[in-house]
Amino acid sequence: MDKKKIAVVFGTRPEAIKMAPVILELNKHLDRFQVLVIVTAQHREMLDQVLNVFDITPDYDLDIMKKNQTLSDITSDVLKGIEEVFTAEKPDLVLVHGDTTTSFSTALAAYYHQIPIGHVEAGLRTYDKYFPFPEEANRQLIDTLTDLFFVPTELTKTNLLNEGKDENKIIVTGNTVIDAIHYTKESQTKHAALDLIAQNPNQKWVLLTMHRRENHGEPMKNVFEAIREVTNTHEDVSVLMPVHLSPAVQLLAKDILGKQSRIHLVEPLEVDVFHQVINQSYLILTDSGGLQEEAPALDVPVLVLRNKTERPEGLKAGTLKVIGTNKEDVKLAMNELLTNKEVYQHMSKAVNPYGDGLASGRIVKEISNYFDS
Ligand code: UD1
Ligand code: UDP
Repeated sequence: MDKKKIAVVFGTRPEAIKMAPVILELNKHLDRFQVLVIVTAQHREMLDQVLNVFDITPDYDLDIMKKNQTLSDITSDVLKGIEEVFTAEKPDLVLVHGDTTTSFSTALAAYYHQIPIGHVEAGLRTYDKYFPFPEEANRQLIDTLTDLFFVPTELTKTNLLNEGKDENKIIVTGNTVIDAIHYTKESQTKHAALDLIAQNPNQKWVLLTMHRRENHGEPMKNVFEAIREVTNTHEDVSVLMPVHLSPAVQLLAKDILGKQSRIHLVEPLEVDVFHQVINQSYLILTDSGGLQEEAPALDVPVLVLRNKTERPEGLKAGTLKVIGTNKEDVKLAMNELLTNKEVYQHMSKAVNPYGDGLASGRIVKEISNYFDS
């Protein structure tokens, strides 16, 4: 049988982390597949960090990132750039991930070229098109175009069934982020941030990340001020924030959290280092999607800095609490977890709803079945 050409397309840090295990798995089956790794570089430095950790060299790099890029910039640059690659390479299947604008534009380009689309991490929903923005619309639009739905959980399958999608095209795989955690867990990579934590073992380390577009401005300011106040009133609390490279985040973080004792702003960390940091953390505050999946697997409570989550599995498991971005609410929630042992223990109980780390194998097996049939 002819080898099938599989194009794996991604552009941001989280897509790279969750697609890397799929690429490594596809590469084990080069008798069946030709694997084409295409990056848009919607993120530049933060993408390259992941490619280095997983030792992946892209076949095509669109290098589209601009400072302060708009959604229209990303959408149009990816659409035009990917079209050229698809015209030259004519892949048999395109794999996209999640809900970024890279993924949506790539799915649209694949559809225009009538190339089948496999959507990894399909089916997540809040059903509110502005929370998160623009990710909720992106993933619904991608799923309108998708041929093979690789969903992480039964609940995400139910979402798609409720929308009338064909059950035969939905495969529950687990989330590939757990595969990525298995990959990084042997890492011995050293980093100054890990040294800092090791030198202050009696501190409760709070890990903070924040970047979502709907949180830019006032919501982010409220959260940072709340964290500054709580840290100032608890001498046993230290904060580590690897600051996202988005200028909207950099400016506010430096302004409100910079030059505070016991609040440490650092550059984005390599994912293997970051996973070690999660393991050392007492508590996570974040608006990230991926962290809501990693934390239940790594035993760390998460206060979610959003009004809604598309990841209710973590809520059910007890590891997540959605607290929004109101200043008083953030202070209350942090204080509770810093002082109430019972609540803390309840939230740090390990329940991992996202699978066994074998999601990539299931995805590749299903791709193989798809071409056999
Ligand atoms: C994007 C995704 C979001 C995802 C997030 C993960 C969209 C619309 N948004 O949001 O879903 O959760 O990535 O982090 O797809 N920058 C750099 N270097 C980098 C990365 C970013 O300088 O390596 C700066 C650039 O100035 C860029 C800005 O950050 O213009 C924003 O990047 P962008 O991808 O547009 O938005 P994110 O908030 O990162
Ligand atoms: N991450 C990382 N280094 C950091 C911060 C986060 O490698 O300094 C990883 C984290 O482990 C998770 C992913 O990046 O897997 C989350 O990405 P992000 O928060 O940028 O995007 P989201 O998940 O919200 O789409």
